Amino acid sequence: ARLVVLVSGSGTNLQALLDAIAAHGPAGYGAEVVAVGADRDGIEGLARAERLSIPTFVCRVKDHPSRAAWDLALAEATAAHRPDLVISAGFMKIVGPEFLARFGGRCVNTHPALLPAFPGAHGVRDALAYGAKVTGCTVHFVDDGVDTGPIIAQGVVEVRDEDDESALHERIKEVERSLLVDVVGRLARNGYRIEGRKVTIP
Ligand code: GRF
Repeated sequence: ARLVVLVSGSGTNLQALLDAIAAHGPAGYGAEVVAVGADRDGIEGLARAERLSIPTFVCRVKDHPSRAAWDLALAEATAAHRPDLVISAGFMKIVGPEFLARFGGRCVNTHPALLPAFPGAHGVRDALAYGAKVTGCTVHFVDDGVDTGPIIAQGVVEVRDEDDESALHERIKEVERSLLVDVVGRLARNGYRIEGRKVTIP
């Protein structure tokens, strides 16, 4: 399967996918990263792709006259690489109707909380502030809501008394990276069905 991965920051989830593909080979893993896209320049996530000569693209909201124009530009830049699956791994923008028209049902997101708890851009901080005793990460298909699409897999992470946001997020990311690598590989190798909110991977 051809993967386009969208990032906004350090790209450690992207790196986990790249490492798995290197370790198993694209045929063994069942997928290859054909391009990496971002909503901003100068981030480590893009550098990780450049180091491997993987094509990259940047779609910045401020370069477009409207959010809808940005959404269309992101959709077209992504479509140019003919992805089978789009992986949003730390991509910090909400995709719009143009993007979903092309990639709905084929776009996977990873979120650092146990959805439906703590959706949005501060899931780790919100779980900590709430006093949750366990939190974790969720890999799900993207729909037209914010972190509301059908759940594929989740991983649980305990919250420790001494945790601050970054310590807890680092521990979540350890689970998140292995969950994402496992899920993406299975989706790519086995195919999948989405029926309502239920995802089946044969
Ligand atoms: C991940 O935990 C992702 O779920 C969240 O931000 C983090 C991105 O990490 N949205 P990285 O860029 O993959 O290192």
